[in-house]
Amino acid sequence: MIGVRPMPYVFDAYGTLFDFHAAVSRHNAAAGPDAAQFSEIWRQKQIEYTWTLTLAGRYEEFWTLTQRALDYCFERFPSVDRGLRDALLGAYLKLDAFPDAHTLLTALKARGERTAILTNGSPTMVASAVEAAGLQSLLDAVLSVDAVKMFKPRPETYALVTKEFACRPADVVFVSSNRWDAFGATAFGFRTVWINRNNAPDEYPGFAPAAVATDLSGVLTAG
Ligand code: LAC
Repeated sequence: MIGVRPMPYVFDAYGTLFDFHAAVSRHNAAAGPDAAQFSEIWRQKQIEYTWTLTLAGRYEEFWTLTQRALDYCFERFPSVDRGLRDALLGAYLKLDAFPDAHTLLTALKARGERTAILTNGSPTMVASAVEAAGLQSLLDAVLSVDAVKMFKPRPETYALVTKEFACRPADVVFVSSNRWDAFGATAFGFRTVWINRNNAPDEYPGFAPAAVATDLSGVLTAG
């Protein structure tokens, strides 16, 4: 499996290495009974905006869309105190990494692999999350779609990886917990590992990931 040049292991950021629900979870009591749904819709709208803008040939950075999606949620869930806005955005910049993220990246580096993030996240936003989680020294590159001003799953975004590592798509192990991202990466030609943490039903028949794992530890054997 490991050739002369190690293959890059490339990770999606939000939902895969970083738990985006951690922002609301940290303020769960203050957010009240709609907290869980609020967090779910915040994510749903954030991603919806990336798709609609990209389909329309437009671009605004992910941090702007994250704030816009949050403001939508405050409108939709009047029970959640708008006074939490700054605290939630601050928490989003310092999200918890999933407990298995540090362990896996450490193990991959110990094996001599190259590692990277490919994310929709704006460069400053993802740099902040990486630093807060203490992952900088475990990553060879942090790539943001901001370089091409379009969002995943456009092929141009995945091409940032093959350009960075001067490799072929088939050389890349791409890891994402988002099935739609795993679809895009598979369509591009990456060897994809879908992290299906919540036993979700499969989607995108015809674009099956190379492997499915229930958490990041599965990447070591699946890659
Ligand atoms: C990312 C989003 C899609 O990090 O989770 O790219």
